[in-house]
Amino acid sequence: MTVSVSGVVAAAKGAPVQVVEVIVPDPGPGEALVRVQACGVCHTDLHYKMGGIGNDYPYLLGHEAAGIVEAVGDNVTEVQPGDFVILNWRAVCGQCRACSRGRPWYCFATHNATQKMTLADGTPLSPALGIGAFAEKTLVAAGQCTKVNPAIDPATAGLLGCGVMAGIGAAINTGGVSRGDSVAVIGCGGVGDGAILGARLAGAKTIIAVDIDDRKLAWAREFGATHVVNSRAVDVVESIRLLTDGFGADVVIEAIGRPETYQQAFFARDLAGVVVLVGVPTPEMRLDLPLLEVFGRGGALKSSWYGDCLPSRDFPMLVDLHLDGRLPLEKFVSEKIALGDVEAAFAKMEHGEVLRSVVLL
Ligand code: APR
Ligand code: ZN
Ligand code: ZN
Repeated sequence: MTVSVSGVVAAAKGAPVQVVEVIVPDPGPGEALVRVQACGVCHTDLHYKMGGIGNDYPYLLGHEAAGIVEAVGDNVTEVQPGDFVILNWRAVCGQCRACSRGRPWYCFATHNATQKMTLADGTPLSPALGIGAFAEKTLVAAGQCTKVNPAIDPATAGLLGCGVMAGIGAAINTGGVSRGDSVAVIGCGGVGDGAILGARLAGAKTIIAVDIDDRKLAWAREFGATHVVNSRAVDVVESIRLLTDGFGADVVIEAIGRPETYQQAFFARDLAGVVVLVGVPTPEMRLDLPLLEVFGRGGALKSSWYGDCLPSRDFPMLVDLHLDGRLPLEKFVSEKIALGDVEAAFAKMEHGEVLRSVVLL
């Protein structure tokens, strides 16, 4: 059996995305069929559309999603029909070298239900990040579903599936921010603001938000930044030093993915501090640093993949903190839109007008 639903598809490189009919098969062994309730619009969806990720068109976009499990295939123990779940794009396999060494957040197995959904004419679709959730229903690996408290607004919950989790995790899981720390976050989009929230949750005393856009800095304050720096107007490294008694920050989180802002992060931290790169660079980018400074400043230069998150541990915990009023995740939802509005949402995202547009289904 199959079902026919509406989904947002990028048919060719650069072409505007369109809502078309998508055919979704029944879940096979280890798979789950999810009725999507909400899915955020992320830069990665735009990268797929523009050809920045691959050439496997047509793509079924959307990956920051929450919904209800509708059916499961054989051998599924993680979830059952009726469960409210957040989808993740890196299901932990439990068997690869990273998993078997007890470091499942580095799991490198791709464990997704790929390329089973099709267009009406049978053309296979490539689901974005193995999810494809700008669709009324999607088929995923059961391990991509994490059951959480259904009391949360699905539009808010879905955002934990990608950028917001990456930011929170960059601060807590990768950066190891601790109480009393000083933290600087360079780039205050959804990922950077997630890092600010994470730093606040971990008890950071000073949280310095850096951006080139005053609107983003105003939002950063709402998420908990204690100080803001517009790096168009002033020297970032000097400003962060001044705000940290001349020392530099204990943890500096780069949430853009550019060499010049990485260099700022490198020089803006205290001796033996930590730099976390959570922004994703492009292949041609190169980094130039004095090796003597890399040695002399000590500390750690780390990257954060998906916030080094463990969905089964982190999603339910963060949802519960939100429901307790301790994590204002709803502030990331700038607008709620329909499936047909994704193309317009890409434009708003590019102009910095929104943190996240979320499609409701
Ligand atoms: N200095 C400071 N801030 C900058 C600079 C710069 N040179 N260039 C851009 N910014 C700011 C933008 O104004 C924006 O507020 O960085 C922020 C980036 O935010 P978004 O574009 O909304 O991106 P986001 O979704 O937060 O993702 C950030 O993480 O996951 C990756 O691919 C993603 O590389 C991207 C990064
Ligand atoms: Zn694994
Ligand atoms: Zn994303």
